[in-house]
Order: sequence, then C-alpha cells, then structure tokens
Amino acid sequence: MSSTAGLAIRSAEDGDWTAMSLLAATCFGSFRPTEANDMWRTLIPADGAVVACDGGDVVGMAFYLDLRLTVPGGAVLPMAGVSWVCVSPTHRRRGVLRTLLAELHERMGSYPIAGLQASEAGIYDRFGYGSATIDESLSVDSRSADFRANAVDPGGVRIVRPLDERARLEEIYERWRLRTPGGLSTPPQLWDEVFSDREVSRHGGSSFFVLLHDDGFVFYRVHGEGERKSLGVTKFAAVTVDARVALWRTLLGMDLFDEVTVTAPPGELLPYLLTDPRLVRITGREDGLWLRIVDVPTVLEARTYLADVSMVLDVSGGGRFALDVRDGRARCAVTDAEPDVSMDLAVLGSLYLGAHRASTFAAANRLRCDDPAVVARLDAAFACEVPAQLGFGF
Ligand SMILES: CC(C)(COP(=O)(O)OP(=O)(O)OC[C@H]1O[C@@H](n2cnc3c(N)ncnc32)[C@H](O)[C@@H]1OP(=O)(O)O)[C@@H](O)C(=O)NCCC(=O)NCCS
Repeated sequence: MSSTAGLAIRSAEDGDWTAMSLLAATCFGSFRPTEANDMWRTLIPADGAVVACDGGDVVGMAFYLDLRLTVPGGAVLPMAGVSWVCVSPTHRRRGVLRTLLAELHERMGSYPIAGLQASEAGIYDRFGYGSATIDESLSVDSRSADFRANAVDPGGVRIVRPLDERARLEEIYERWRLRTPGGLSTPPQLWDEVFSDREVSRHGGSSFFVLLHDDGFVFYRVHGEGERKSLGVTKFAAVTVDARVALWRTLLGMDLFDEVTVTAPPGELLPYLLTDPRLVRITGREDGLWLRIVDVPTVLEARTYLADVSMVLDVSGGGRFALDVRDGRARCAVTDAEPDVSMDLAVLGSLYLGAHRASTFAAANRLRCDDPAVVARLDAAFACEVPAQLGFGF
C-alpha cells in the first residue's frame, strides 16, 4: 500500500464497488446498470482495479481489462485496457490520477502494451499514450444518394433478428477483428451485454436492427420520428469489399429515411461509389484507441511492415533500440548507438497501427530526424493496408 497526499492507494475490494459506481456516475454524468458493471468486472485480472481512499471514501479509481489487440499483419497481443479512470472533483489536480496510473502500470506486469479511450485528448500523452486510431463521423444524405453505374451490386444481404443469428454475427466479427488493426477479441459475456440491447445504450434510438451478409454485418438504430428519421449505424463490419458495398446499398435503399450516420476510419469507400460524393459529409473526427507501448521490441516485432527500414530509434520514456525491418518483418533490440530518429513514447504509440504518419509528427517537431529519406521510409514501413479501427469501446 502506498499513499499520496494523505490518501491510501490500494486494490479495490468487493465492498468498494457501490462507491466506485457512484464515483463513476458522478464523474461521467450517468449511471451504468449494475449488470453491465458486473460484466466488465469479469474482465479485470486479480488486483487489476485500484482505488484512492480518503478515510472511508473512495475518491479515485482506475482498472485495467485483460484484452487481446490485433496489430497490422494479424498478430494478436495481450493488451491491458485501462478504463473507469475517475478522480472526485473534491480531490482533483493534486496528483491522484498520476499516482493511480503509476500503480496500475506497475501492476500490469508482463502486458507488452496498454490501451485506453480518452475522455479528453489532453490528458494521456504525458503518460506515454498516443492516439492510434481515428474515427470520422460520417453523415450520408440517403434520399439523394445514387450509386454510379459501374459500382458493383453484389446483393446477398438479409434482414435478420439479432438473436436468431448470434453465432453467425460473432463468427463474422471474429474474422473482421483478426484482419483489422485495433480489433479486439470479444468474450462471450461481452456479447451477452451487446445482445441484451439495454434501453440505456440506445441513446433515444430504437432497438437494434441487423443487416447480415456472408462476409459482413451492420447493426443500426432508428432515430427521430414522423417525417425526419435517420439510421444510426452502431457497428459496420465488412470483411470483403462486396460485403461493404452490398451493406451500403441496403442501408441507402431505405426510402423513408433521410440520413445514415456512421463512424469509420479515414478513407471510407462510400463516396467513391456515389454519383455525388459530397452527399457523404465528414461531421466530426476523433481519436479512438490510445496506445502505450511497454515492451518496445516485442510490440515492434509483432506487426508486419510495408517497406524495409533500418535505424536507431530513441524513444524518450521507452529506451533506445536498433530497428531493422526486412521483407515486412522487424528485428528490434536495445542498443546504445547514436540515434537516427527520436520521439516520445506517445508518438510511437500513434505510429504503431498506421493511422498517423511519421512525416506529420516530424513537421510538428514531435519526431526528430536529420534525414528526410529516413522519415519517408518510416511513413512507408508503418503504413497499413487495412485501416485501424477500435473493435469495441471499453
Ligand atoms: C481527468 C481526471 C482523472 C484527472 O485526475 P486528477 O487527479 O485531477 O489528475 P492529476 O492531478 O493526477 O493530473 C496529472 C496530470 O494530468 C493533467 N491533467 C489532469 N486532468 C487533465 C485534463 N482534463 N486535461 C488536461 N490535462 C489534465 C494535470 O494537469 C497533470 O499534469 P502534470 O502533472 O503533467 O502537470 C479527473 O479530472 C476526472 O476524473 N475527470 C472526469 C472523468 C474523466 O474524464 N476521466 C478520464 C477518463 S479517460
């Protein structure tokens, strides 16, 4: 047990969870159902939840989940998924978060990588986490959308009741997450939670509708009433181009809805399929998954690369490494040689899944390298054919 400013920092016990739920509801502004909290608790390893206590009161908390992250090329790494990070407004900005995270990082032991979703983008860079996936919010004017004459029309979509097709949906998701950097393996209890389709998760929308293709699916809800109704897609998973096009044709084929909204990584196919690509508007852009690389050699050797590169990398907060990529595979080892490239740990986390480019960080003076050719090779090497996307929110 350690202590900060008179606070006790210790493992959460069963009896703490009522107070923890209240603290989370206070900090995030809404209560989560007890059943949902119980489900997430099943994914926390022993001693993976810590609390900060002021006397008998829980005034801070954080935990990590035992998750599995897909990296470029399809390898899967154990990831400590940090969540429920809260400090009471009565105890803010006196280092409680810093102490809780230090404790949690210590407890993560052999996890080579940690991840989280940030409530605010200014918090986690200083702790070595970099934004590693990008979510664009898209709004499609579906009433006016027409597909180009040469766009394929693969068909094969069925309208199904979610529970009738649970096994098929899980199987397709499994294929999707294993090919998608940022994909996460979904344990059965989390699927139970998805299929329970709680009122509180609907955000004013209808219960789920599901469109099913052999190689993809869409979950969506209907929002609005009367003349103006929209479809809000909550999950669009397509393993093939045909599945993606067929699902889009079905979504845009519904006459009585004005708009389809969806979040997707940059580079969505739909505008290229339509006669008027402006009907697909980008209405927002946010970070999704944030990554903190703990074991740099293991993590860099796990993914595949699209170009060769050889350099010495100095990662402040992470160490110095010789990185040698040949034929798409990396060898990475600790070195004390002079560095060619230097950056913060958070920047390496941002580059890892290919969602951000080294040259952009170089232009922002957050990646330092005297040789532009090396930066160009880093861009080429760390790129990824499948855009990174977070598997599910945690
Ligand atoms: C965000 C939150 C956890 C911060 O807790 P805290 O105990 O006040 O944070 P600390 O005092 O330990 O701050 C540690 C560092 O983070 C910075 N920081 C804290 N909150 C920040 C914020 N919201 N934005 C930017 N920086 C922030 C502090 O300035 C400090 O920086 P420094 O040490 O480098 O100078 C707390 O305000 C909270 O619970 N907010 C509501 C819930 C939430 O957003 N949780 C995060 C979920 S991902």
